[in-house]
Amino acid sequence: MNTYIIGEQAKYYEFGKPISSNAIVEMKVPAVFPLEEIVKIERRSEIQFSLKEDTRVYGLGENLGGINKRGGRYESYCRDEANHTEDKINLYGAHNFFVIEDKEKAIGYFVDFPGRIHFDIGFTNDDEFIITINGENFGLMKIEGSMPSEIITKFLKTIGKPYIPPKWGFGYFQSRWGYRDQKEIQEVVDTFQQHEIPMDGIYLDLDYMVDFKNFTVSRERFPDFEDWTKSLKEKGLYLIPIIDAGVKIEEGYNVYEEGVKGDHFAVNQEGEPYVAAVWPGKVHFPDFFQEKTRRWFGEYYRDLTKMGIEGFWNDMNEPAIFYDEKSLEEAVDMAIDCRGKNLNVHKFFHLKDTFSNLLNDEKYHQRFYHRMDGEKKTNEEVHNLYGNYMTQSAYEGLSRHLDHRFLLISRASSIGMHRYGGIWTGDNASWWSHLEENVKMMPLLNMAGFFYTGADTGGFGGQCSGELLTRWLQFSIFTPLLRNHSALDTRAQEPYAFDKRTLEETKHLIRLRYRLIPYLYSTYMKAVDKYEMMFKPLAFFYKEAHYKEIEDQLLLGDELMIAPVVERGKTGRRVDLPEEMAKIEFADSGYTVEIVKEGPHYLAYQRDRLIIFLKKGHMLPLGDVAMNVKELKNEKLDLLVYMDENAEHLLYTDDGLSIDRNDQVKTIFSVIHREGDFLVDIKNPYKGLKVVNFSFLTNEGLVKKTHRINS
Ligand code: GLC
Repeated sequence: MNTYIIGEQAKYYEFGKPISSNAIVEMKVPAVFPLEEIVKIERRSEIQFSLKEDTRVYGLGENLGGINKRGGRYESYCRDEANHTEDKINLYGAHNFFVIEDKEKAIGYFVDFPGRIHFDIGFTNDDEFIITINGENFGLMKIEGSMPSEIITKFLKTIGKPYIPPKWGFGYFQSRWGYRDQKEIQEVVDTFQQHEIPMDGIYLDLDYMVDFKNFTVSRERFPDFEDWTKSLKEKGLYLIPIIDAGVKIEEGYNVYEEGVKGDHFAVNQEGEPYVAAVWPGKVHFPDFFQEKTRRWFGEYYRDLTKMGIEGFWNDMNEPAIFYDEKSLEEAVDMAIDCRGKNLNVHKFFHLKDTFSNLLNDEKYHQRFYHRMDGEKKTNEEVHNLYGNYMTQSAYEGLSRHLDHRFLLISRASSIGMHRYGGIWTGDNASWWSHLEENVKMMPLLNMAGFFYTGADTGGFGGQCSGELLTRWLQFSIFTPLLRNHSALDTRAQEPYAFDKRTLEETKHLIRLRYRLIPYLYSTYMKAVDKYEMMFKPLAFFYKEAHYKEIEDQLLLGDELMIAPVVERGKTGRRVDLPEEMAKIEFADSGYTVEIVKEGPHYLAYQRDRLIIFLKKGHMLPLGDVAMNVKELKNEKLDLLVYMDENAEHLLYTDDGLSIDRNDQVKTIFSVIHREGDFLVDIKNPYKGLKVVNFSFLTNEGLVKKTHRINS
């Protein structure tokens, strides 16, 4: 075992010869220290921890089961899991970072390994946490600190800054698997406009392509794609096409032919391109583990950027596999064999399961290989890196094709990919429990470096009700990625597809999102620059056991606490205030504010109201409503200040597009409360800012004051 120090204080233990998981960017400096943890290595490796009565375990990123993971079992193994039920142990991301905390100490660990890892966190034995690593070569990073937040900051430094989207990526996006053609999508855009609901664009699902072939556009369904894309963009609206991992096998299709010629596809044992099936039928998978393939595939994004596209979503890159040739053949043979037979219970279910298990059978991962630095590895060995490298390929390609920021999200991910793009949390459903999971997952995703993230608002599968959409938006208007997306054959999910009440509520929420963009964008950028999470559990900041158990209230930035309603039919909820805060209640046309004492409260929370909490000594800026980010001028800013003796707020007011961040514009607002007066100072007011309407809140009430900027 070799030992190293990474960055400021992270200890790194290296067992055997680990395969890099592309996560760590800081230098590893050799240093000698003993191993305190119990690690057993025997073909597989096991790390053991004992859990005390009060030990909590936070982390593992994109996974079900809430913020404190104790009592459950989980897996890091990227999986196309379309049914997020409580018993599922892995989803699309593999985020092997967690923090163990008890009364005395907190320690963070990152398991640096690109294959399967199993975490049994007091599931089999209540006082034992056992990590099983599917191999003998891995790294283990250990970070100590007094608080989880301090450990997380140190960890985020070792893995490098998260991807920064353009500011327009903070807009609202509509999406649906099933929008057939240009005409239908244009109608969606027009209907949003008619109802005065802002949006920054539409995600294009599979149907824009010809026969599900990446980097093609169906001229039949999208007759003047380039002109349309460009004319939408002039109005501040973006189209975000999907790209899938599998490349259709078809003579004459350039990506397929060039891929074969250039040896760019993952191979089977015989060294031939591996054949599996996804949307178009048979496909090959680009071998993103080869640098030349990353460059090759990344070049194709240019076909679409030339048509005016500036954002993409990379999908099915776990990779998802419907079937492979061998397994399908075996299943079909079995079915033929059953023909005319009298099948008893065992035979019938065996036949049935053989077919249903074709989808994403993990056996396939042993049948294809990647070339990594001249070595051949089964997909199983390096599985969690596939989506990571695909996104790196896209990121590097797009960085060559565009001279400004672009939008890029992926479904599969592992830590390290956060530098190249964001993630959406995959195929959730229109279930209240999935709204709740969305809330709890956000801080865990941030812990793993994923800041540009969000769930399919309203739910992807299943039937969404108006009430669920409203309540979901009351949370997701705070998530950096805000996309309403739904699956084929589900109830339409655009705000106007519901009753009048829902339309009104959702419209006001989306409009409010645009007022929040100056705040949200700045909060994002501050989190990136300070290596801090954007969404934080109360448990990370308040020591009392009681607050450590609250998982449906989150801190956002340094200023806010949010406590969304995540149950059907509620007109109120319990909120526990860990300190005195200002309760801000938004109704359609404005807000009211009131100071609420520390402690438990049952608060009325009507469907058409949005309630958030502002901490003392902090400010909440609200800009103008605009129909999209391009139109956001923010000449006038409303600043609600919950006064302590003084308060300060920093707004990032750059153009939201430049890659070079040296000329970043930051506006600083500061207020001092002295002898009943409020002394205001605004440093470096951004271009265009003319009026700031201050509302100072103190125990004496609300004082309003308008401040004009002399240009
Ligand atoms: C996958 C994606 C989903 C998309 C669908 C069709 O299930 O997760 O978002 O709509 O594929 O492309």
